[in-house]
Amino acid sequence: MSGARFPFGPTYDEMARPELIEPSVRAAALEALPSDELNPVNLFNITWKNRDNQVRKMVFPREITGLDVNIVVLLGNGFPSGSHKVGPAYSTLIEACVDGVLDPEKHTILGPSTGNFGIGVSYVCRLMGYRAVVIMPDNMSKERYDRIRKYGAALDLTPGTESDVILTLERTHQLMKDPSNFALAQFELMPNYRFHRHVTGSAAVEAALRVGNGRVACFVSAPGSAGTLAAGDHIKAVYPEAKTAAVEPYECSTLATGGRGQHRIEGIGDKMCTLIHNVLTTDFIITVHDDECVQALKVMREGAHILERLGMKREAAQSMRDLFGVSGMCNVIAAVRMARYLRLGPDENIVTVATDGFDRYESVIDDLDRRCLETTDHVLERWVRDIFAAQDDSAIHDVRRAEAKERLFAQKEKDWTPFGYSAEYLDGMKSQDFWEDEYAKHAYYSEKIGQMRG
Ligand SMILES: Cc1ncc(COP(=O)(O)O)c(C=O)c1O
Repeated sequence: MSGARFPFGPTYDEMARPELIEPSVRAAALEALPSDELNPVNLFNITWKNRDNQVRKMVFPREITGLDVNIVVLLGNGFPSGSHKVGPAYSTLIEACVDGVLDPEKHTILGPSTGNFGIGVSYVCRLMGYRAVVIMPDNMSKERYDRIRKYGAALDLTPGTESDVILTLERTHQLMKDPSNFALAQFELMPNYRFHRHVTGSAAVEAALRVGNGRVACFVSAPGSAGTLAAGDHIKAVYPEAKTAAVEPYECSTLATGGRGQHRIEGIGDKMCTLIHNVLTTDFIITVHDDECVQALKVMREGAHILERLGMKREAAQSMRDLFGVSGMCNVIAAVRMARYLRLGPDENIVTVATDGFDRYESVIDDLDRRCLETTDHVLERWVRDIFAAQDDSAIHDVRRAEAKERLFAQKEKDWTPFGYSAEYLDGMKSQDFWEDEYAKHAYYSEKIGQMRG
């Protein structure tokens, strides 16, 4: 097989259940994780599970939410490269290796991104021996570019911020005309869907098992590529009554209302309905104001004493410092509002995701400090109380009816026809069979990876 390099990483099943990895490889991977970041064996650390095979998660403190429902947050900051986006980056690259279409001597890998996917692409390419170019907007948090450079990828920057992703897509499609380039096109390729449905979905179900009634009532995730949202499809297969809610910045509510503004939540709200978004299984769209997320993040980072005033124990309050980025905060705020809207009780669980941790947001908090005249303790306490107590049901859009689905399909057609996708292909996505067939391919790729690894 052309292009495969040792170690030819984990299968989908091994990412979902790392206990299946050959013990000496798992041991080497766990040893490398804290101290030898660029050792290729770290590919076997692409999983939500810790060394004890438990999902890395937290139940968001009730002292902050003021609710008795359980908000279970999957923590993405423990993935190699610092976010769960390394999973779709690896899955897309390994599927292309299995398909035999890549040669590290000939191909350059393109990673269209707003940051974390680009970080993941540069990281897995470094580990697997491929040249990488990350195509992303030029106005994202500084920490993102630093990481990508550290992993050795080149940057190809397009103008703008998160909501200018369409320019990175256009640039990617332009570069794809050169056959020596191969794009890990996260917004359109199905490995992203497969990774999250199989790996994140099973982590979400497991994370809730010993919490409350052990079931998942609702899964909340703010789409960038909408890969993470695919976990909802796995959850629904286990708990058919579960709901899936997609979160958007109020300032750029493309799915909810066709809105197309600039916003501050890096990683989400990309002014499109992505090709891999299964809109059939999205039940609600909820909007959250971007600055609420940045403000709440500042309190998690710097306001342990304020969280203590809300009733948290000191150690627990201090442990909130590193666990969230802006989109993670957005997901938690949306989960709180969905819990109220759905009138969930003390036994019930909402699962959501913190894609990354604080390590890439120092500059975002510096910017908030510059914009706000006052960030005294009094102000921070008012922010956190107001944000978590607020409820505006008009920000929640029920998209279960056929008219709403038609509107979302129309948005998808508008976004993807210009990139050459046929009406026939897009129509196929209107049937759940399309998604089941795509998902089923994870078994084929798992088997092939296992065989080729020898
Ligand atoms: C910080 C952050 N949050 C959320 C997301 C959205 O995840 P997904 O692309 O799986 O929808 C991303 C995607 O890049 C991200 O970087």
